Amino acid sequence: MNAEIQSIPKLLEGQNALVTGANSGIGEGIARELAACGANVAVNYVVHPEAAQAICEDINKQGGGKAIAIQADVSKEDQVHAMFAEAIKQFGTLDIVCSNAGIQRDSRLVDMTLDQWDQVIGVNLTGAFLCAREAAREFTRRGMRDVSCALGKIIFTSSVHQEIPWAGHCNYATTKGGIMQLMESIAQELAPQKIRVNSTCPGAIKTPINHAAWATPQAEKALEKLIPIGRVGMPADIARVVAWLASDQADYICGASIYVDGGMTLYPGFATGG
Ligand code: BGC
Repeated sequence: MNAEIQSIPKLLEGQNALVTGANSGIGEGIARELAACGANVAVNYVVHPEAAQAICEDINKQGGGKAIAIQADVSKEDQVHAMFAEAIKQFGTLDIVCSNAGIQRDSRLVDMTLDQWDQVIGVNLTGAFLCAREAAREFTRRGMRDVSCALGKIIFTSSVHQEIPWAGHCNYATTKGGIMQLMESIAQELAPQKIRVNSTCPGAIKTPINHAAWATPQAEKALEKLIPIGRVGMPADIARVVAWLASDQADYICGASIYVDGGMTLYPGFATGG
């Protein structure tokens, strides 16, 4: 496990970030890493305020950027407006927006309710649209700052399932395919304004969303068969890539889907078959 690789302390110094769904899992990892790299971070959550508060307190004890917690359901337009207004009030402006919040409501197609479909589309896809739109509005309103050579950065947490079909999860996979087109379309639209839009595409990462898939040694072994590199990922594996993507080190990366999946998208079954 290489989750102990060092953060780069000044990589994002002076920048302000908002991370949605940041009170657990990959979002928490991203918030912690951005702060370790010097950015101030708004930690969005919808339930479990105590988890968001604890993460902020912990971040605020470290030597990096400062953290605040903001509640909002990203599928609701008025709540997204209020979240951006609060982050901008506290920090002055935003430079980095990580649209990360995501849920699964798994079911076979024939049993899937409209509510399961709507909830996943609402949070994963409508939420991504609403946050990206507010981010672009704020970057454009405020203009260039001397903290970065970009006007702003939008980074989506997509998934290997923007590419890999997933039986029993068609609502979830549909949102990730949608994020890919959302990301590429707005990357093309916003690049002339120096707004960089990109995605990470995580594979199997140890978080609450897929707990059952790695909770027992047997389950973890079965999951590892899908991962050529031979280990289930950790939130820090994704978070380090997000921090780098947000930094000027990645200034020429625009409209990219970066698969951070231990090789899951390499069709591992073909290593011995086909
Ligand atoms: C899903 C996880 C799953 C992983 C690999 C992610 O996008 O949220 O539940 O383990 O993809 O299949």
